[in-house]
Amino acid sequence: MPRHFLKLTDFSLSELEALLKEAIRLKQDWKKGKTSKPLSNKTLAMVFEKSSTRTRVSFELACVQLGGHALSLSTSSSQLGRGETYEDTARVLSRYADAIMLRTFDHDNLEAMAKVASVPVINGLTDLFHPVQILADLQTILEKRSSLKDMTLAYVGDGNNLANSWIHAASLFGFELRVSCPQTFHPHESMVELALSKKNIHFEKDPKKALKGAHVVYTDTWFSMGQEVDKAKKRIFAPYQLNDFLLKNADPKVGVMHCLPAHRGEEITDEVIDGKHSWVWDQAENRLHAQKALLLALMKDH
Ligand code: CP
Ligand code: NVA
Repeated sequence: MPRHFLKLTDFSLSELEALLKEAIRLKQDWKKGKTSKPLSNKTLAMVFEKSSTRTRVSFELACVQLGGHALSLSTSSSQLGRGETYEDTARVLSRYADAIMLRTFDHDNLEAMAKVASVPVINGLTDLFHPVQILADLQTILEKRSSLKDMTLAYVGDGNNLANSWIHAASLFGFELRVSCPQTFHPHESMVELALSKKNIHFEKDPKKALKGAHVVYTDTWFSMGQEVDKAKKRIFAPYQLNDFLLKNADPKVGVMHCLPAHRGEEITDEVIDGKHSWVWDQAENRLHAQKALLLALMKDH
């Protein structure tokens, strides 16, 4: 059975700690111009059923900079769009490539691929989780704060794939996580159940209270890919907008994070995303390095 990365908890705490350390080292080496080609002759096949800028470019360049090759398919340009099953696609891609990355809607599609693939399968985002984003985010926090301990992270907005993945991260690393979402937009029920079983994860409907003294504040779009944009939902989310006024409740040295793409003027204002507390460009940059560490962990000896 190959090793897959479908969710953050597919790796143990010590494996994730080692991976993040490696990501930081790879970044430092890259900046110094030190390169090596441990993935030479290896290929990553990427399948995108949703749009992407960061995931597509950072995975491709991560692979290429490590000496490998990456290619990408979309639903419309592949036979998936004509109904070829995820299983058959995985069986065939496994014969050509050394790892498969899939960005899809239903998490079950990813599970279906992973079940039959004979090479590692990576989650490039599903409706349920976005674990490769969290790797880069954890790397960013480590670089900024030197530790993932003694930290409160407030997640405000929609209880989506990022919120679900943050619950996984807090359950593994043990930092305090406050999740602040409108009543009807809570994280997935299995993640709520996991959160309620952990002393360090709390739900706080009031975003001001959730941000009180927080060291890191995270938000994401109110309308994830595949969801319809509607005005009524915008009104429900309005109190959760990350603006200067809300941010005043956080620690004076707070870092602001957003996985991007941002919907400026909706979940986050220009002042905040472009302001002195913003870490968003560093997190985007770290997608490259965190994913290099992930590709090495999964593909190097495959
Ligand atoms: N954050 C993220 O996954 O961005 P893309 O949708 O551009 O890949
Ligand atoms: N929650 C967002 C994340 C985009 C990277 C979405 O799924 O569209």
